[in-house]
Amino acid sequence: MDRVYIFDTTLRDGEQSPGASMGPQEKLKFAKQLETLNVDIIEAGFAVSSPVQFDAIRMIADEVRKPVICSLARAVEGDITAAGKAIASADRKRIHTFIATSPIHREHKLKMSKEEVLKRAIHAVEFAKTFTSDVEFSAEDATRTEVDYLCEVVEAVIAAGATTVNIPDTVGYTFPTEFQKIISTLFEKVSNIDKTVISVHCHNDLGMGVANSLAAVHAGARQIEVSMNGIGERAGNASLEEVIMSMSVRKDIFPYEFGINTREIYKTSKLLIAIIGIPVSPYKPVIGKNAFSHESGIHQDGFLKERSTYEIMTPEQIGRPSSEIVLGRHSGRHGLKVRLKELGYELEAEDFDKVFVKFQELADKKKAVYDDELIAIMEENTGVQTPDIYEISQVQIVSGNNAIPTATVRIVQAGQVKQEAATGNGPVDAIYKAIDRIAGVQVELDDYEVTSISAGQDAMGEVSVTVRRDGKVYSGHASDTDILMASAQAYMNAINKIIYMEQKTK
Ligand code: KIV
Ligand code: ZN
Repeated sequence: MDRVYIFDTTLRDGEQSPGASMGPQEKLKFAKQLETLNVDIIEAGFAVSSPVQFDAIRMIADEVRKPVICSLARAVEGDITAAGKAIASADRKRIHTFIATSPIHREHKLKMSKEEVLKRAIHAVEFAKTFTSDVEFSAEDATRTEVDYLCEVVEAVIAAGATTVNIPDTVGYTFPTEFQKIISTLFEKVSNIDKTVISVHCHNDLGMGVANSLAAVHAGARQIEVSMNGIGERAGNASLEEVIMSMSVRKDIFPYEFGINTREIYKTSKLLIAIIGIPVSPYKPVIGKNAFSHESGIHQDGFLKERSTYEIMTPEQIGRPSSEIVLGRHSGRHGLKVRLKELGYELEAEDFDKVFVKFQELADKKKAVYDDELIAIMEENTGVQTPDIYEISQVQIVSGNNAIPTATVRIVQAGQVKQEAATGNGPVDAIYKAIDRIAGVQVELDDYEVTSISAGQDAMGEVSVTVRRDGKVYSGHASDTDILMASAQAYMNAINKIIYMEQKTK
């Protein structure tokens, strides 16, 4: 039992959180990525809750072969039957049935006695066993349940055949030392506990989801229920990336095996963001934009001398592009010198001093100074200008509530006209795809911002974009009364800088 099983509930608890709902095709796409990430169990949904949920689970059961495919079901026969039908085609299938055990839920929600809840739990497990041998039982709101009663319920459901028993901290109420004690008590008092896997499912209302899950592992839990990016009811669930990287970085404290391919973490997180459209905070551990960025001069200096001074894991471990030295107002001379060298400039001391002063002036005005802006500072000293390699001459858009957004973009390069059309998720996406086709440069759009720089109906809109290519960030800016035109020009501006810099540093 030195393996910790990873049960992913992004498609169930995660998907039921506000704004995170997904269609069956999107769920299937994400489930396939979870298979590549190598999670042990995918909780694909709550079959009885809607026909769309049912279909999504069925499609995942049909097509995703490696992980166990699971459906949630309340402890009632109708739910369990729907779950059993939805997962029927899976190679490995699980029904996850639950009932609340705490006095608050028994009294106010269920209006049931302890005895009635216990009877229902046993029957649910026995009934679920008629569909699959792999049955998980959850004692909802376990952390606010009388511990002796929790032990009684756990013992009874194991006797009824539950192969996994989950102890959820449904409302994110417990704390690591307390939760560890609850799990230890179960191991001490439940006579048949060795016949099941003890699982935990921790919500994040007080920011303890990951800490509580890991504390439970110390007490003997061997399944952790997690969601990608930590999405889930209210403040979300323990996040997969934090749980996994904690166990990976601190193997000395957590000497357990797990199946996750950590190099797929970043890709999985990005896919989820693209599907549900909910970004994560830049400060989010492991996957946030700043998680591997170093800005202060002292940190940059230390990191450049030996990366482990300020990094406990590498971005490569989770499949992210390399760490970033963000040049900004707190950066020092060492960081700037290294970056300029990477860009192909080695300056005499006197020239470097001049560039450093100009860099500081610019850094004082804005959040970060990107490579192309450094080049511009350099070129002000040598008089060379970044040429407009491509110039936009025309942008035509078809868009609207009944139209597939389509853009036709015409560009002039050295007197030659090039034209491409593309469709996209929206007009801006379509424009950017058409430009990508013409320029033949693949980039990742990191940021897109529109601001109004004058008032009234003919207000000028300013568009700023930052794009990423091979780990380097480039910016583009443009303004126009037509924000789609400004969007096109800002993007073109960034692409031109990439082409120019790549030619220059070849
Ligand atoms: O938070 C919870 O208690 C749940 C159960 C259904 C496991 O999501
Ligand atoms: Zn939950």
